[in-house]
Amino acid sequence: MTDSKKFVFKKETLDSSITVSPEKIKDFIEINFRLLQALDIATVNFGIWLLGSEHILEFVNPALDRAEKLKRKQQLISIAQKIKSSSKLLILHEDEEKMHKHITMARTKRIEASGGDKTFVKGYLKLAECSDKVLTCMEEVDEALVQEIESLATNVLASMTEARDIVDEVMSMISDGNAADHFTFVTMIALAIGKELKLSDDQLKKLSVGSMFHDIGILHLELPNWNVKALTASEMKIYETHPTVGEEHLVELENKSKVRFPKEAHKIIAEHHEKFEGSGFPLGKRGRLSQKNPDGIHIFSSIVAISDKFVHYLESRQDRPALDRRTAIKTMNQLEKDFDPIVMNVFRKLAGLSYHPF
Ligand SMILES: [Fe+2]
Ligand SMILES: [Fe+2]
Repeated sequence: MTDSKKFVFKKETLDSSITVSPEKIKDFIEINFRLLQALDIATVNFGIWLLGSEHILEFVNPALDRAEKLKRKQQLISIAQKIKSSSKLLILHEDEEKMHKHITMARTKRIEASGGDKTFVKGYLKLAECSDKVLTCMEEVDEALVQEIESLATNVLASMTEARDIVDEVMSMISDGNAADHFTFVTMIALAIGKELKLSDDQLKKLSVGSMFHDIGILHLELPNWNVKALTASEMKIYETHPTVGEEHLVELENKSKVRFPKEAHKIIAEHHEKFEGSGFPLGKRGRLSQKNPDGIHIFSSIVAISDKFVHYLESRQDRPALDRRTAIKTMNQLEKDFDPIVMNVFRKLAGLSYHPF
């Protein structure tokens, strides 16, 4: 266990806040209100981090008894709801393995309540566990993590005969606006599109790894408010570096460990905000990568660009509520020029739309 975790547990207070540096906050995992409700609080510790001020206002001490912890949980939820516009719910347990077990149990409870194909739900839970680990890959990455993501890519799909079912399942899983499993949902929709495009198993594995790591660059930026409020022009400039920063980080991880990421994963991270007509960032790439267009956008990056945008609209953000699925799809349609037409047509098909649905 790192010192930063000990630091948080030592201080237990209702009255004063604790300052935590962004470095230390990286040990936490973000959860949402519904997940918090589903957590067995008796053995879990969590804090609310006020974004921007880098303060933990409240957390639960493992030494408290169950009744006290339950009381504290309700207090936390009500504080967090009051200050929703500037808060994040974060969880940290002194035993990392236990913490992941608890989060998985809470996710299972929540997902089972929404119904769904059992094998698929299992795949989702495993992918979500991987995504928790991806978020902590600041210094090194375990080869086994990458292999697990690769094998889950085909397992998740194996449980579904139709790619369309995957999109349906994800839309219902995300129907509460859950923004805590962004990497997982983006990966699932990307895999559905990849399946419909008849990618090989090997290609799907590469697509999956790139999708799971697509936003790692954000973790390295000094932008604690990036998903809380509209960014100022100067903050936007910083945000727009995350694909480049993320790709550089991937190279660093490769240098520090034995892991070799597929070149497609590098492309996905670097290009997932490029737009087909050239107005995206960071490079303003245009069109599909081909021999004739060597500076074009890799089709895997275009798949993740669509999946990322769609999931983003389905998620509730601190500055706006989640869009319902019809509005999210409609908004995607209005932005069609931003996306590779081949991938967009597949997305439309999977999301249950004809070409001119509105
Ligand atoms: Fe991104
Ligand atoms: Fe994203």
